[in-house]
Amino acid sequence: MFTMQQLSVFSFLLSFLAVVSALPLAVRDVFVPPVTYPHAGTVWKVGQHHNVTWDTSNAPAQITNKVGKVVLAKGGILDYEHPLAKDFDILRGHIEVKVPNVEPGHDYTIVLFGDSGNDSAEFTITK
Ligand SMILES: *[C@@H]1O[C@H](CO)[C@@H](O)[C@H](O)[C@H]1NC(C)=O
Ligand SMILES: *[C@@H]1O[C@H](CO)[C@@H](O)[C@H](O)[C@H]1NC(C)=O
Repeated sequence: MFTMQQLSVFSFLLSFLAVVSALPLAVRDVFVPPVTYPHAGTVWKVGQHHNVTWDTSNAPAQITNKVGKVVLAKGGILDYEHPLAKDFDILRGHIEVKVPNVEPGHDYTIVLFGDSGNDSAEFTITK
């Protein structure tokens, strides 16, 4: 038999599960626009300015988070500390960034965050 305490833990877990299973409904308008530039073959030089672009054509009418952020990643490691751009409207489809003074490499990606992240193809940064 269950003790009262076990039963209340059990009912707590049940109500927790009910909340969790209701969540996907609340966040169903997650918008993860694909990054279209930079793409494979792109070469950026340190200090240059470029427009990161993304496709907004599949944007839902209601977006839970419209505030975007652009983060540079090298070898899949994101540099969250130094976003290239932030606090812009994710629906604008482009944002100008300055290429930071980083080590040259062929394994850079741009990650665009709104509700969730979408990463570009790997591209190159040179000095
Ligand atoms: C990013 O966008 C591409 C192209 O639409 C898509 O194939 C990929 O699944 C997306 N990645 C994420 C994490 O949503
Ligand atoms: C980025 O796009 C904006 C708007 O189209 C344009 O005014 C600006 O010159 C572009 N910047 C670069 C570096 O191409």
